[in-house]
Amino acid sequence: MAETRKAQPFINGQWLEDNRETVEVRSPYTGEVIGLQVLATMEDTEAALQSAFDAKKEIAAIPAHERARILKKAAFLLEERKEEFAKLISMELGKPLKNTLDEVSRSVETLELSGEEAKRLNGESIPGNASERGVNAVAVTFRVPVGVIAAITPFNAPLNLVCHKVGPAFAAGNSTILKPAPQTSLIAAALLKLLLEAGLPSNAVNMVLGGVESGQAIVKDDRVNVISFTGGTVASRNICELAGMKKVLLELGGNAATIVHEDADLQRAASMCARTGFSNSGQSCISVQRIYVHQSVVPQFKELLKTEVEKLKVGDPLLPDTDVGTLVDEKAAGRIISWIDQAVENGAELVTGGRQNGTNVQPTILFNPPKTTNVVCQEVFGPIVSILPYENIEDAIAEANDSDFGLQAGIFTNQLDLAYKAAHMLDVGGVVINGTSNFRLDHWPYGGVKNSGIGREGPRFAIEDMTESKMIVLQLPV
Ligand code: SIN
Repeated sequence: MAETRKAQPFINGQWLEDNRETVEVRSPYTGEVIGLQVLATMEDTEAALQSAFDAKKEIAAIPAHERARILKKAAFLLEERKEEFAKLISMELGKPLKNTLDEVSRSVETLELSGEEAKRLNGESIPGNASERGVNAVAVTFRVPVGVIAAITPFNAPLNLVCHKVGPAFAAGNSTILKPAPQTSLIAAALLKLLLEAGLPSNAVNMVLGGVESGQAIVKDDRVNVISFTGGTVASRNICELAGMKKVLLELGGNAATIVHEDADLQRAASMCARTGFSNSGQSCISVQRIYVHQSVVPQFKELLKTEVEKLKVGDPLLPDTDVGTLVDEKAAGRIISWIDQAVENGAELVTGGRQNGTNVQPTILFNPPKTTNVVCQEVFGPIVSILPYENIEDAIAEANDSDFGLQAGIFTNQLDLAYKAAHMLDVGGVVINGTSNFRLDHWPYGGVKNSGIGREGPRFAIEDMTESKMIVLQLPV
């Protein structure tokens, strides 16, 4: 994959480099230089906006079967290069190979699903005779592309979350201006090369690499029709302030709760919480963070979870048996440790973990941190879970809902009626029964309420927001 070790802006069908600032890309695990990122200038950002704007009619005119064919070819090529892509993500992000192989498989599905949805851009016919004034009329609706999608993507799932924006955008007939996370530009560039190889027209996606300034220019610009952003709440507020009249789709953070009731299969709950609380070092918006456990089973659950978590292998992300790799950088690791310290200083028990080695943080379990500490009330985005005891299910649901976020939640119980009641009362975008908060299939609607976002991802649902309904009325003479 030597040729993909350079990430360059891709604008107007050209990979740009000359006389531009470059930044070394380092592996967060070894610290070695693994590539080079070429930054876009503000003139490049302007050129990308104009290119995306100029391309929109051409992209909209590509027939759906052709858009579908290109996306399915891309899925096929990605499946063929699964190992290569997984290794590149592991090197660039420090995410273990176990997780990155899974991410590539999910990305293949996301591209396939986008291709399938390209063929299902259906409208409806609405007879006019429901109104006295419309007896001789009928309306027919069509889904038409909005034009230009600005896709701003995060580092934590750097392949699949780009596929979740570029796939539906192209499936719906839009052109895209992509700004991937600076920490994972190599993987974004590798994906774009693969899409072009699959036949994506060279003006369908413009890619800008750079910092906040170019992001702000894109968000403000009136040539953009829809902004699709995945990232943090602070950045999302800035986007909303700058976006003006554009539609803004936001997939934001969470401090996800999972409830373990007294009648749950505790072993199953513990092993699932261990696996889904620490994959990618907890750097997922739905990672298990707050585990509300019925007080009668706290001692058993605590012991079972500790045993499961201590089995997790921490270390080199490129080794096939590593469960927990690095944080994205040392600053993130330092923040995680300071949050553990804050919880312990305020009375939490450190059940296991709590140590840092460079960018690795040991998987950490805290018991009963006060609800005002960061590990409970903020998004951790790191390898910490907290066990929080409760007396009755209403309390657990109230505590889970006492959050600024509301992305996904989980509940373990053997009582169908209790699970159903909790699922309705939990104030989130999705509830998993007998599973943890951290379960997502790429064709399901994914998104949150409160500070966790606006809109739903998943190709079918994203396409609804990336298209407009256009009505054509046939009014027959009486
Ligand atoms: C996210 O962090 O929101 C992505 C989670 C996932 O796709 O599994």
